[in-house]
Amino acid sequence: MASGTSMFSLSGKVALITGGASGIGLAIAEAMARCGAKVMVGSRTIEKVEGAVKQIRRAVEAEQPQRIADDTEPVAAGISIDVASDSSVEHAVEKVIDNFGRLDILVNSAGMMLKKPTFELAAEEFNNLYNTHVTGSLRCCQAAGHLMREQHAGVIINLASISSFVDLVEVASYASAKSAILGLTRSLANEWAKYGIRTNAIAPGFVPTDINRKMIEGTDRGRRILEHTPMARFGKAEEIAGAAVYLASSAASFVNGHTLVIDGGYLASGIGDSFAPWAQPDSE
Ligand SMILES: NC(=O)c1ccc[n+]([C@@H]2O[C@H](COP(=O)([O-])OP(=O)(O)OC[C@H]3O[C@@H](n4cnc5c(N)ncnc54)[C@H](OP(=O)(O)O)[C@@H]3O)[C@@H](O)[C@H]2O)c1
Repeated sequence: MASGTSMFSLSGKVALITGGASGIGLAIAEAMARCGAKVMVGSRTIEKVEGAVKQIRRAVEAEQPQRIADDTEPVAAGISIDVASDSSVEHAVEKVIDNFGRLDILVNSAGMMLKKPTFELAAEEFNNLYNTHVTGSLRCCQAAGHLMREQHAGVIINLASISSFVDLVEVASYASAKSAILGLTRSLANEWAKYGIRTNAIAPGFVPTDINRKMIEGTDRGRRILEHTPMARFGKAEEIAGAAVYLASSAASFVNGHTLVIDGGYLASGIGDSFAPWAQPDSE
């Protein structure tokens, strides 16, 4: 077992992060790179991917100039990937091997949101969202899993959600997909551990990003969320990233099939009365 902070080191590891060009995926990619990994970030929009790669390289260079100077390979590379396409996913995994020679960590952070009353939800819209979140994660897990099985080592991290556990109103397709992510995570954790692959999920609370900013920032829904969050604020993408580093590292070598909730206490809040007048410190 590694000692001290080195048990959280990802030195020598290679990570593929889908949805890694923005939001939570980008924060995870940057944190993994800063902890020693080489990262390949991917999404459909190549301009976003290129910007993310630059941001990660700059961040690591500012913090660890000697590492960058000594390294023959770049710390970050990018690829256009559509997780809804078999061939695109296969191509991306091949590209990781071309660039870095191995693949140790897969983070499935690609995602989309659809808020609509369920009576109005078309099956095609439901299937489209499911194809990105669930079938997309499955595709990436299978493509990466083949390599990890050959290496007899690998870590998969799926992005679940608070809506894997509780209803968030008019997001039935998203909630169904995020609930299925828990099942996929448990299935792989059980089925692939014998190949040296650990599979876990992270369930973030409310983090304003491109996927949900309009829904929760300055809205009535956002206010109600904050009233039910004991920490009384939204999360930041960087606050999710540490959990991904932990799950990918040797510090989590016996963690498999777990979903780590990071939500400022939202799920724990029950009736959410921590801000009621009678619960304030000066009312005692
Ligand atoms: N933010 C939150 O509060 C929150 C809470 C719980 C869970 N999550 C989950 O966390 C993950 C990351 O979301 P985020 O909040 O970071 O939102 P985000 O910034 O919008 O990131 C999602 C990324 O996924 C990419 N993407 C969408 N469809 C794709 C596809 N078919 N193939 C490849 N990439 C695709 C998007 O880029 P392109 O459009 O360029 O492809 C985008 O960069 C998602 O799974 C989300 O459901 C977020």
